[in-house]
Amino acid sequence: MPRARAAVLCLLLAAPAGAAERMTPLERLGQALFFETALSGIGTQSCASCHDPANGFASATAFPEGAVPGHFGQRKPPSLAYQAVSPVLHHRIEDGEALFLGGNMADGRARGGALGDPAADQALLPILNPDEMGLTHTACLAARACDSQSDAMEAARPGVCAMPLDVVTTCAAAEPAEPLPETLATVDLVQRALATFEASPQVMRFSSRYDDYIAGQADLTAEEAAGLRLFDGKAQCSACHVLTASDGQGAVLTDFTYDNLGVPRNPENPWYRATVNGKGRDWVDRGLAATLEADPVYASAAPGLEGAVKVPTLRNVWTGQPRAYMHNGWFQTLEGVVRFYNTRDVWPRCASDWMTEAEAMAARCWPAPEVEATMNRDELGNLKLTEAEEAQIVAFLKTLTDR
Ligand code: HEC
Ligand code: HEC
Repeated sequence: MPRARAAVLCLLLAAPAGAAERMTPLERLGQALFFETALSGIGTQSCASCHDPANGFASATAFPEGAVPGHFGQRKPPSLAYQAVSPVLHHRIEDGEALFLGGNMADGRARGGALGDPAADQALLPILNPDEMGLTHTACLAARACDSQSDAMEAARPGVCAMPLDVVTTCAAAEPAEPLPETLATVDLVQRALATFEASPQVMRFSSRYDDYIAGQADLTAEEAAGLRLFDGKAQCSACHVLTASDGQGAVLTDFTYDNLGVPRNPENPWYRATVNGKGRDWVDRGLAATLEADPVYASAAPGLEGAVKVPTLRNVWTGQPRAYMHNGWFQTLEGVVRFYNTRDVWPRCASDWMTEAEAMAARCWPAPEVEATMNRDELGNLKLTEAEEAQIVAFLKTLTDR
């Protein structure tokens, strides 16, 4: 009875009353750093700017600006919740083929090899990314972290800020050729604290109505229950967004594998117009292939995984606030997402490759996929769902929102 056991555990984890008081010093530090704008170059942005706790730790806009105005990333900020339990990027052989799983980021480039934890590897990327928070280098990060959060830093690892660096001179100086020994422990602590917070009950709450239902504490409506049956049956959603509980916790609604669904290009992605993107509208998001290609052991697997991105969690996909879906935010409605899974290979191809979701839905056509060759044709594209069944699946998705 693994599911029943997991349900009991997640009730313990989710208990909201007093949870904040029971946070460990490391979780508390991670939470403080998560909201700390001093970790961005010009002091205006924190992790929460793009990963809003009130919006499922995702962002309302598909392409928020970085700390420097006019700078944008290439992808939509996803929900970061439930990603901290993604294993180190690895592969296993299934049906004679390498199946890749784990890592953080849509393309798995935060592999987890450096600190043994993808979320900890990941934490440095937005802070140092010039299109996001834009800090100059890790020595500057160490100086800023000790300056802005010295008490929480000391509580988590006594002595770590005993010899703080001067913020102004350190951040203005060029990147040291070798990491300064006195900053190594500080940066390590920042990364681990952020990853620990992301894995904590503050972020992984397991407190949705679906969790209550699994624990026998709530009912689903007839429509939601029908949606769950489709999700786990005819619509095959649970083949990737798995409903089985793992590691003694509730279901995370992803198996951390990679797939190319054939999502169209998003004409609203500002990256197409960015000067640093030398390819303009010919730019293609290669997903996992770019990560694999950089690794001599895995490079030969790259061509088969062009455009494959990590399966996201479906927890908190609906918060009642505006939200964009998929790696490039092309979808803005759950109705559109489910219609796409159902009819990708049924509706005709649109005349233009550069349409919005609303335009395509109105014209009852789908624009060409961003990457066609590797598109999954086994589990989606023609699910033969009625419109009533589509609505039932959407109703079920809305039960996955944490309190
Ligand atoms: C300017 C907006 C922005 C800021 C600020 C930002 N992020 Fe992100 N975040 C993104 C985008 C965009 C992605 C997706 C990038 C990708 O997949 O290539 C992302 C992805 C992630 C992921 C990966 C989730 C997954 O599915 O694997 C994690 C974890 C994360 N961010 C944590 C953080 C933390 C921690 C901070 C603060 C230190 C932060 N982010 C700050 C935009 C932002
Ligand atoms: C073959 C694996 C697979 C199956 C089957 C599958 N999904 Fe997905 N799902 C993915 C991947 C991969 C993504 C991310 C794709 C991207 O960003 O381009 C995704 C993204 C999503 C998103 C967007 C989440 C976000 O935060 O952006 C929703 C919603 C979703 N799927 C719902 C469903 C539903 C409902 C079904 C069943 C009808 C389903 N999925 C079946 C792999 C799958």
